[in-house]
Amino acid sequence: MKKNEIYDFEVIDNGMNFEGIAKKDDMVVFIPGAIITEKVRGKIIKVNKNYAIAKVDEILKKASFRETPFCEVFKTCGGCDAQNITYDMQLILKRNMVKSVLDKLNVEYEILENTIGMGLPLYYRNKVQYPIREENGVSKIGFYKKRSHSIVSNECCYIQNRVIDMLAKDIFSSFIKHGFKGYNEATNDGDIRHILIRRGLHTKEIMVVIVVNKEELFEDLKILDIAKEFARKNENIKSFVLNLNTSNTNEILGSKTKVIFGSEYITDVIGNYRYFISAKSFFQVNTLQAEVLYQTLKEKLCLTGKEILFDLYSGVGSIGIFLSDKVKEVYGIEIEPDAVHMANLNIKENNVENAEYIAGSVEEKIVEFKNRNIKPDVIVVDPPRKGLDEKSIEYILDFGPKEIGYVSCNPATLARDLKLLSSNYNIKSVTPVDMFPHTSNVECVTVLQLKENM
Ligand SMILES: C[S@@+](CC[C@H](N)C(=O)[O-])C[C@H]1O[C@@H](n2cnc3c(N)ncnc32)[C@H](O)[C@@H]1O
Repeated sequence: MKKNEIYDFEVIDNGMNFEGIAKKDDMVVFIPGAIITEKVRGKIIKVNKNYAIAKVDEILKKASFRETPFCEVFKTCGGCDAQNITYDMQLILKRNMVKSVLDKLNVEYEILENTIGMGLPLYYRNKVQYPIREENGVSKIGFYKKRSHSIVSNECCYIQNRVIDMLAKDIFSSFIKHGFKGYNEATNDGDIRHILIRRGLHTKEIMVVIVVNKEELFEDLKILDIAKEFARKNENIKSFVLNLNTSNTNEILGSKTKVIFGSEYITDVIGNYRYFISAKSFFQVNTLQAEVLYQTLKEKLCLTGKEILFDLYSGVGSIGIFLSDKVKEVYGIEIEPDAVHMANLNIKENNVENAEYIAGSVEEKIVEFKNRNIKPDVIVVDPPRKGLDEKSIEYILDFGPKEIGYVSCNPATLARDLKLLSSNYNIKSVTPVDMFPHTSNVECVTVLQLKENM
């Protein structure tokens, strides 16, 4: 198989980024945009030792669940990668994706549920984060183009809440009108790197975060005027924050933050609980599905009210607080101090008297609970995409809780960690929950039970 050769492919599966997968001459060929059951004609654009990549030239047999993408920048924008597939089929493919990574590592489980989808899978994101870049002397707002850092501008993003999508663009225009410039990655120059806006779905409260490239902008009176003007026009803007990021990395937020108008947080509601959220704390971006996720976990765990529960990678304490009425005590660990500050406010706000949150990394802090002789009956983990580290897994196995709830946003690291945990645990159920419709991302709630002889 050589570059530029043209072949016909039978698409036998869709991969982790929803790219089509075919086999040819003992090679796996990835074909972005092709869908399982289709026959496509494609040109080889890259050949590696074990796989090749092809670009679709022509669809010879179209899948019945191929959909016309509703977004005009679908082909170029790096945001959504599944709009060309009907929503029902996206849910099936997400379950298939989880099944194939579990099967690949021979992870045994009792039930893999169907993916729980959204009734209206549009405008669901409660947080927009637009990069602002200067390209050829022009400042632009938009998302990154696929596999690049150049900006694709859009009129409307159909997965963002409309209010904050439009607000981000209005704020951008105002900054440009006042003479500020977008960040230039090549020269590390410019003023504004990102506009990030969060909105409480149920409270409608809005937080605006402007990520700036120069510390002196923290004192800029023009920015203060812009903030006040927007807050006058929109009474739901409760917080206007500047964040400084001068690093040359892909991180959006830097470490320094200054509130220039209003409060340091906004609030939103999940189930019966109200949560304080700050600029730097993690909060699920799909509020409606977060409730489905947490409720699924609550129902799948066998909680009797007598358990000691660890909420690891706890963010603002959302899971532990959500489960607090079903257990005796909650102990949480979270690395971001700001989020722990919010978790402690959240305990008070919700009159939760049986929870304690500490700041630090799970791998370093979990031993504190052991030293205090606190023995968990249930451990819930919700790590970032890289999953659990070996040290934390050793601690968890050593604690030996009767149940583990594993919330994961990355099926590959979930499968790897489940394989290790399954030495002592049976995997009772895996439930994919669609937190990110029209993208290939999938979240899973997995419940594990201690084996009888352990
Ligand atoms: C996927 S979020 C989950 C947050 C929370 N459970 C929720 O549902 O909103 C993962 C969280 O883990 C935190 N984190 C990342 N690495 C960590 C570590 N090594 N130890 C403790 N927390 C960590 C992040 O700051 C983030 O808040």
